[in-house]
Amino acid sequence: MVRRSIVAGCGAYLPDRIVTNQDLARDLDTSDEWITQRTGIRERRIAAEGQTTADLATAAAQRALEAAGIGADDLDMIVLATATPDETFPATATRVQAALGMTRGAAFDVHAVCSGFIYGLNIADNFIRVGQAEKVLVIGAETFSRLLDWTDRTTCVLFGDGAGAVVLTAAEGKGDSGDRGVLSSHIHSDGRHHDLLYVDGGPSSTRTVGHLRMSGREVFRHAVTKMADVLGESLAANGLCASDIDWLVPHQANRRILDATAQKLGLAPERVVVTVDRHANTSAASIPLALAEAVADGRIQRGDLIVMEAMGGGFTWGASLVRW
Ligand code: UT7
Repeated sequence: MVRRSIVAGCGAYLPDRIVTNQDLARDLDTSDEWITQRTGIRERRIAAEGQTTADLATAAAQRALEAAGIGADDLDMIVLATATPDETFPATATRVQAALGMTRGAAFDVHAVCSGFIYGLNIADNFIRVGQAEKVLVIGAETFSRLLDWTDRTTCVLFGDGAGAVVLTAAEGKGDSGDRGVLSSHIHSDGRHHDLLYVDGGPSSTRTVGHLRMSGREVFRHAVTKMADVLGESLAANGLCASDIDWLVPHQANRRILDATAQKLGLAPERVVVTVDRHANTSAASIPLALAEAVADGRIQRGDLIVMEAMGGGFTWGASLVRW
């Protein structure tokens, strides 16, 4: 028998405030037509004044714990993926830990920007596989609205705020691709691409928070090829092929990237979980937000093969294969 981690429950939280493309076009030289055609985004959620990443993460975590039927004190670990922490230190995960009333175990942040949830899932899965943890909460939570230059139309229209979470618990499997749980995760980075997607600030460089800067067209080009590569890698590692996939739950950056990825896999568009139209790009939160939606509305069923994939600043990229 092989030790695996299964997803015992998932949950999500979105701030109440909806900002549409038309809202943005009132103060910015942009249009609903441009944003919709180039990205598929129609609206995004923006956190309220004073509402922080930890607040969003805690709300998503509570829903995931409820879905899993697990109390916060049963957790051994919280892994929080975020590029928008409440403070430079301590880790936002420790704020979530306190808010949940969890007084044991360990809580820490993972920083891989848009790939953060895949990195977090990989780390949590490994802790469970080696027997160092039984129950781990993995959260992706962001308040990207705080990092945006709201005068830069090439970036500010693309992002939103939100959080999603999953609870992983230890289980035994046969060790083949028919097992329930995380079959494998594959993470990569290549720091040479720093200048294509970064924030121009930080405590050690400018002592400011900074703003997000992106060369969109180049990032797009890399995203399509890197996602296809890592998807191929994850399927090959499990002896599976694209036709085995029931659901692609991708990082939601741009509808055109999702369509291109599905096309490369020969996957029907209705097999791709899409939230980018309503959430925009929520960085590390986008995959667990999409996952929670497709589980809640009954699309994802027990036994389905789910492929999650992401690419972001660094560059970082990765994929996880999960048998639901
Ligand atoms: O999550 C991390 C990973 N991030 C991504 O995967 C993002 C990848 N990149 C993209 O999604 C796309 O490249 C963008 C949506 C960012 C941009 O779309 P594009 O088709 O690559 O447009 P572009 O950057 O080539 O810009 C085309 C034109 C430019 O005008 P000129 O130079 O042709 O006159 C831009 O100035 O569109 C202009 N433009 C806009 N126009 C109206 C850029 N942003 C806007 C805007 N409204 N908001």
